[in-house]
Amino acid sequence: MRFRDVYKNNLFMLKFVWKYYKIYIITSILISFSSILTPLADVLGPKYIIDFISQKKPFTWIVTVVILIFSIEILKSIYYSWYYKFITPRAHNKIKGGINNLLMQKAASLDLECYENADFYDKYTRALKEADIRALSVVSSTRDFLLSLVYALTLFGVIVTLDPILLLISVVSMLLSSLFGLISGKCQFKYERLLTPFEKHLNYIKRVFYEVQYSKEIRIFPISKLLFKKYDNNIDKIDSVLKTRGKKLTLLNILGDTIEFIMTIGVTMLYLAWKIYNGALTLGDFMALYIASRQFSSRLQVFFNSFTQFYEHSLYITNLKEVLDYESKIENSSDSLEILEEKITDISVDNVSFSYSEREVLHNITIKASKGEKIAIVGHNGAGKTTLIKLIIRLYDVNKGKILINNKDIKKLSVKHLRSKIGLVFQDYQLYSASIAENILLLEVKTPEDEDKVWFALKQVGLYEKVKELPNGIHTLITKEFSNEGIFLSGGEAQKLALARIYIKDYDVVILDEPSSSLDPLAEKQMYENMMDITKNKIAIFITHRLSTTVMADRIYLIDNGRVIEQGTHKELMELNGKYRRMFDAQAQFYREQAEDSLVVS
Ligand SMILES: Nc1ncnc2c1ncn2[C@@H]1O[C@H](COP(=O)(O)OP(=O)(O)O)[C@@H](O)[C@H]1O
Ligand SMILES: [Mg+2]
Repeated sequence: MRFRDVYKNNLFMLKFVWKYYKIYIITSILISFSSILTPLADVLGPKYIIDFISQKKPFTWIVTVVILIFSIEILKSIYYSWYYKFITPRAHNKIKGGINNLLMQKAASLDLECYENADFYDKYTRALKEADIRALSVVSSTRDFLLSLVYALTLFGVIVTLDPILLLISVVSMLLSSLFGLISGKCQFKYERLLTPFEKHLNYIKRVFYEVQYSKEIRIFPISKLLFKKYDNNIDKIDSVLKTRGKKLTLLNILGDTIEFIMTIGVTMLYLAWKIYNGALTLGDFMALYIASRQFSSRLQVFFNSFTQFYEHSLYITNLKEVLDYESKIENSSDSLEILEEKITDISVDNVSFSYSEREVLHNITIKASKGEKIAIVGHNGAGKTTLIKLIIRLYDVNKGKILINNKDIKKLSVKHLRSKIGLVFQDYQLYSASIAENILLLEVKTPEDEDKVWFALKQVGLYEKVKELPNGIHTLITKEFSNEGIFLSGGEAQKLALARIYIKDYDVVILDEPSSSLDPLAEKQMYENMMDITKNKIAIFITHRLSTTVMADRIYLIDNGRVIEQGTHKELMELNGKYRRMFDAQAQFYREQAEDSLVVS
């Protein structure tokens, strides 16, 4: 990375902070310039006191100097307190909010394939993890950079006026110590990178122990032992990196300090003492020069260290920019602008093939669905059923073939608009730590009509009675994460809640991916009957393993290994006497055997 990039990247971040909290930048710059006062008070104050004493000046002169030093320190303290205790925490909060918001919005529009690309995903998590801290460190590094520069320049002025030769000694000492600063900064950074994968693993394990969904299994299975072991292993690995790094850094530090002491204490002190000895320097000058020269090199060290910091920030910002600059191919595609005004009446998957990365999982699939039709998709686990749905709602684009909606290529249609016409429940639906109503509407509940919609949907899925009895009704929170009054739902109830979402709006198409996997038989029957009812004039596509429900479908597609191998009505497929029939018979047989077994037992 070149110097120009480092500069540009840090400036990018400063501009970003400027946008969210201007006063933080302004006060930070002011604090840098206020540092001009410190060396004056620390260095010149004592010099004048000593000089006045040795020159036998009136005591009031000394009192004046003391009052001056005191006033400077008090003013500084007021400003620093306000800056660090009042401004900085609020700046942290605002900037954190701004940058994380930006990243979350980005996440919501990334193509799904980004999550499957380990490199990109890594970049994204790194961007998110450090975003707020980095934004602030860029400001604090800039502040320290300016602060130490102003400080050092002031000391420079003091030294030049009192003894130019000493400046030469100080500069050499400064160059040497900053060289060591750079070397150890680089070393530190190199090892920091080695630690990242281990720290990632540690964080993962910690997460398992605090997130509620793991809590049951952790208690029942011996997995916690395994995780503790992995945790300890990672701690050991980190330790071995720290050991190697520690040896190098300790040595560098001792060496750096020794050289600095030789220059500042050895050379400088001897030089100054020799000058006093020869009467060329007052006691006060000695005092001022000695303090100034020591502070000068330590300030310059801070100054040079900030370059290492800017470099580290820059590496992070490059990563952040890559994430922010990512142009999503589907969500932001400029080809997909057409708004479909009319209702969706036809979906046609035409000879479509698709692969996630290398491996093709769908091969030459052709499927049709028209208004009023109920389409069932069946097939073994991993056959490609869910993938097909993901293509229809354009979470991915097909590799070969076409998907047409009302005879228009799906790639030409506005993605947002298309999705808003399709009611969908995923196989791995999610519930959120929000109220029941919000979990169904997936929007803010604003009007009484919104509430009516929610109650209607709850009725359809058979949750009405249960919610009615809750003190907070539809405003009860799901999970107890934010309130003790929240509720936990059983697996089946949760699935019903997710299903309620499709009753909220008059969708043109309803797609359900294994919607009854957690439902009891009665609830399942009820669900399919309701579904048939509300989808009379719509397109309904459901993926199911319960072959009893396929009996009501207008058309069944049996997908096997990414290919449609049989299609037709239940009757036709039974007559075909192929794989569908074998699956159906096996399921029927299983239920019969179970029923007979239970008869024998009872
Ligand atoms: N995000 C993904 N990345 C890579 N492969 C995937 C991904 N999702 C699913 N697959 C693979 O695609 C195949 C079909 O998956 P899917 O469509 O979910 O099957 P199902 O018919 O059970 O719904 C499976 O072999 C699965 O391993
Ligand atoms: Mg699936």
